[in-house]
Amino acid sequence: MTETGMRILISTDEVRHRVTGLGLEIAAAYPDGTLYLIGVLKGACVFLADLVRAIPRPVRFDFLGTSSYGAETISAGEVKLTKDVTEDIRGAHVLVVEDVVDTGITLDFLLEHLRKREPASLRTVTLLNKQARRLRENLIDFVGFEIPNEFVVGYGMDYNEDYRDLPDIRILDGTGV
Ligand code: IMP
Ligand code: MG
Repeated sequence: MTETGMRILISTDEVRHRVTGLGLEIAAAYPDGTLYLIGVLKGACVFLADLVRAIPRPVRFDFLGTSSYGAETISAGEVKLTKDVTEDIRGAHVLVVEDVVDTGITLDFLLEHLRKREPASLRTVTLLNKQARRLRENLIDFVGFEIPNEFVVGYGMDYNEDYRDLPDIRILDGTGV
């Protein structure tokens, strides 16, 4: 794929520095006990991999998968679970790990799903927060960066499965968002 039409929004160093800070914030926010980080596939994989190593306390992790119907760069408002957690999270502290929250429809759906598993607590961290088009409120406990209403790729995030491997976060121009 050509990399023209992209500009860097958040550099590799800025990401690394913020993830380190988030790790300390998260560690300070939890008492002892089992802490499960639940990454939302596939976009949050890279973030989760760095985040678990930035939290100076024991953590476990697992993954959830979702797909939303409709246009690729806009959440269509209907979310489907494509992979469930496989670990028993009842009575554990659960922290959902997202790459980016836009309308909030995906995260709202996932929280409702996970609540049924009766965790001791259920909180969320997102690397990026796009507030402009939010339709569901009070979803996010820890935020890496506030970003404008632009479609971003890199550091796990894709456009039609490309660009997940980029080490920084870039704005993809011309995607019609
Ligand atoms: P929401 O349900 O509208 O909050 O959308 C959240 C999901 O859409 C995220 O988990 C991402 O997978 C995807 N998404 C939203 N914005 C972007 C973006 O700018 N780049 C890549 N994926 C995005
Ligand atoms: Mg995602």
